[in-house]
Amino acid sequence: MRKKITILPGDGIGKEVTTCGKNVLDHIAQAYGHEFVYDYATIGHEAIEATGDALPDESLEKMRNADAILFGAVGHPKYDNDPSLKVRPEQGLLKMRKELGLYANLRPIKLFDELLEASSIRPEVLRGADILFFRELTGDVYFGERGRKDDGNSAYDTMIYHRYEIERIAHKAFAAARTRRKKLTSVDKANVLESSRLWRSVIQEIAAQYPDVEVEHMFVDAAAMKLIQNPRGFDVVVTGNLFGDILTDEASQIAGSMGMLASASVGDAVGLYEPIHGSAHDITGKGLANPMASILSAALLLDISFGLKEESECVIRAVEQVLKDGYRTRDIAGKDTPHEKILGTEVMGNVICNNIRILTTVGSD
Ligand code: IPM
Ligand code: MG
Repeated sequence: MRKKITILPGDGIGKEVTTCGKNVLDHIAQAYGHEFVYDYATIGHEAIEATGDALPDESLEKMRNADAILFGAVGHPKYDNDPSLKVRPEQGLLKMRKELGLYANLRPIKLFDELLEASSIRPEVLRGADILFFRELTGDVYFGERGRKDDGNSAYDTMIYHRYEIERIAHKAFAAARTRRKKLTSVDKANVLESSRLWRSVIQEIAAQYPDVEVEHMFVDAAAMKLIQNPRGFDVVVTGNLFGDILTDEASQIAGSMGMLASASVGDAVGLYEPIHGSAHDITGKGLANPMASILSAALLLDISFGLKEESECVIRAVEQVLKDGYRTRDIAGKDTPHEKILGTEVMGNVICNNIRILTTVGSD
């Protein structure tokens, strides 16, 4: 198979982790006889510095021409500490999602058994948790009208959902639930918000087309609580952009660390794959970043965009194997992890690539 992949490393640890993601793709290509060709594009702070624009047209063009996109992160502390700056790295991310029609963000929360102790949640609560989030990605308060009034002394952001936006993500979530444990939790705030009441009624209507899927509606505050109290109670979760943003960071604790969580953003055209962690400037360039979220994003890319299930599974098994062998990055190391088992970004990436080599030469099924 010959495929074109556009890589946008972006800011902060984005570069370090996407380098590992790409190495993994190269090893898979080599082992399975595929040809992946890459090109690189800029986004975020780096793009602003170079062009004044958080997502230059040239980058968008490259992405449109790709078969899949591997993305790192955007963000820079300079902007976080200065809310008055008009051009901001995150605008690049939002524009990219909108322009490419990436309306469904899949965030699988799966705990590797070896990491049961890495989470701050008790192992007996976590064991067996396996949740697939569908976060709506191109609507909501992220894209509604916003502004200032009263000479700048009042500010507003509009939470708005259109029926078609809810319908298309609902169908994706219901279809996924069918292939899993057939339970869908729709999260909203319908006791207060009108947009949530529309959300809930559309989900109820669509539920009629999926009688084999059990549907549960939950308010976002209750969902935040239940995710920690009983994560095994969830199978597929579908929710809006803002609630999904918040709940998936929370849910990353179920997987041990944000550094483990991959995501796929899909719509009607090209798919984009990225870790859910951000640019993490505090650890940038120190070799401390966990590359597994980017590597697992590459696994999602192989599966969802290229239909390469076996190759995707191989990447997941290679990650599983490093964990079984006791290797950890700092974010998932426990108090009993021996010093020599704590690896930096690059070495961890190399060990995973080596596992791919082993899995695809000897002992593969
Ligand atoms: C995410 C991030 C982004 C979001 C930021 C960086 C704009 O937190 O992908 O979850 O809020 O969507
Ligand atoms: Mg987020």
